[in-house]
Amino acid sequence: MSTQLPLQISSFETYQSTYERSVRDPEAFWAEQAATFSWHEKWNRVLDWNFTDPDVKWFQGGKLNITENCLDRHLDTRGDQTAILYEPNDPEAPVVRLSYRQLHAEVCKVGNALRELGVGKGDRICFYMPMVPELAISVLACARIGAIHSVVFAGFSAQALADRVNDSDCKMIICSDYNNRGNKTIPVKEVVDEALALGCPSVETVLVHRNTGEPITWDASYDQWYHECVDEQSTECPAEVMDAEDVLFILYTSGSTGKPKGVVHTCGGYMVYTAFSFLNVFQYNPGDVYWCTADIGWITGHSYILYGPLLCGATTMMFEGVPTYPDAARFWQVCAKHRVNQFYTAPTAIRALMARGNEYVEGHDLSDLKVIGSVGEPINEEAWEWYHEKVGKGKVPIVDTWWQTETGGIMISGLGGHSPQKATFAGYPLPGIQMALVSKNTGEELTENPESGLLCVKFPWPSMLRTTWGDHERCRNTYFSTVPGMYFTGDGARRDANGMYRIVGRVDDVINVSGHRMGTAEVENAIDEHPLVVETAVVGYPHEIKGQGIYAYVILAPGNHDPEKLRNEIVETVRTEIGPIAKPDKIQFVEELPKTRSGKIMRRILRKVAAGETDNLGDTSTLLNPEAVDAVIEGKV
Ligand code: WT7
Repeated sequence: MSTQLPLQISSFETYQSTYERSVRDPEAFWAEQAATFSWHEKWNRVLDWNFTDPDVKWFQGGKLNITENCLDRHLDTRGDQTAILYEPNDPEAPVVRLSYRQLHAEVCKVGNALRELGVGKGDRICFYMPMVPELAISVLACARIGAIHSVVFAGFSAQALADRVNDSDCKMIICSDYNNRGNKTIPVKEVVDEALALGCPSVETVLVHRNTGEPITWDASYDQWYHECVDEQSTECPAEVMDAEDVLFILYTSGSTGKPKGVVHTCGGYMVYTAFSFLNVFQYNPGDVYWCTADIGWITGHSYILYGPLLCGATTMMFEGVPTYPDAARFWQVCAKHRVNQFYTAPTAIRALMARGNEYVEGHDLSDLKVIGSVGEPINEEAWEWYHEKVGKGKVPIVDTWWQTETGGIMISGLGGHSPQKATFAGYPLPGIQMALVSKNTGEELTENPESGLLCVKFPWPSMLRTTWGDHERCRNTYFSTVPGMYFTGDGARRDANGMYRIVGRVDDVINVSGHRMGTAEVENAIDEHPLVVETAVVGYPHEIKGQGIYAYVILAPGNHDPEKLRNEIVETVRTEIGPIAKPDKIQFVEELPKTRSGKIMRRILRKVAAGETDNLGDTSTLLNPEAVDAVIEGKV
């Protein structure tokens, strides 16, 4: 088996020449990277593509299993090295270290258990679990036997879970009994039971991992204990041989319309790109301890806690807890405790910790840090500077990594220490990534610098989404129709005179709350479920910690209402429909919403009002009901 790794770039000059080569001959470049992995059969075509259907295939005919590349191929060279380093929520609880050999054995045991429970290639398994080693183990086990994982963040509600389970007809749900989060214990299995009660006809088995051991309700017709199914299994499990373009996983993400869509990633290209980008952005070297604080319920956790690091034979940390438990020093205490070399977190966490005061970060030994990263939303200058000064001591390079669930891997970022860095700028595209700015007005590509426009990608990259589960037309419509011939990201961006990219933010009806994507339509639909709500418009507004907060304008049915009581009920409704992450921060009751003559809500104006920018509302001449604007301004909360 191959023990090679993809190319690791170690200077800006090499980046530049590599970039040039990767764009001149993308197929040769990616074939060279792909050749460093273990394949059962080599591909016969590197790339076939069009962005019209769209139809993108990398490494066709190639046969592989990604878990053999994450695990088996490392056994001879680093079998005893820690693969997963697990830091529990409770700082006093024992750390768990799983070597590559142990992780391989555990994954095999679960793989065998899943097969015994009737799961096979192509079946979908939904995961609804906290950040415990068994989540990583069973996700990899799923990939080992060729089943498709769909991880749902354990903060989503029963309704949101049921929607996702049903969209992809999952045969099994793997969950925990309870989840430890700060000083709270969250009843995870109970939410799964609620989801099943809402109706999940495809689910045959719920596999329950015992985490806290507190009592749960049990239905013997579908519940099975994880340990009872797994403990006696063999530690060898033949990997299912997958085609490069077979589906590896589905991950649901919010869009500007309708229900969340299941972004589909496939085996070969995703493997090549997550490993390549991990190695280069974080400049990981053997022996380093790498820590990404994301949850595996998001793409960041998939690509840069699990697959990217394990493909590169890294030691990757999994953290069960939250940044502020037992206090706001936890991140830094853990960095010092495990001598973390690469640390990757979100601006919202940085801002929250910054607000608690410098005393929490000072006094912890952060001298092992070599690269610190940011992801999920634009990082404001103040947070960047604080991260740079207080965490990076003014000398550790920051990588501001721009990417999306759909891109599978990091697209624009510095390569830890080898790229020019500029606060609030993500920087240059990675090798093989052909970004473009497109004029909003003319639809033409903007080739000069500096320039700003719609952020697009002109050419396929190995880890791009292939489709949206069960609805290819939606994929085409969402990403490939705005700018014909290109992948449209939904973001607006600016390029400076040197060609460095700065991401401005979403240009569609998507808001980014604490680095989590929420569709305004989704939140509106949830609020509309309240029986007294007639109509709702939701917009984002600048929020000091979360980046964007959720501002809801709500029209109520006629009658005498207690506004405080209704606000609480509406928040509760959203919590039930989606989960606490979608709770509105502000709710304003209005008589009417400003609308165009064609009946469309003027969100532009609502955004301005929510942001407090009422002296500059722009053109309001197309409004059907200009008086609604004054009333909205008057009632601002
Ligand atoms: C959206 C994607 C994959 C990362 C986790 C979020 C925003 C992401 C940055 C960044 C500015 C960023 C964009 C993007 N975003 N990273 N470094 N600077 N904005 O993944 O939930 O798919 O959201 O997050 O708006 O479109 P996601």
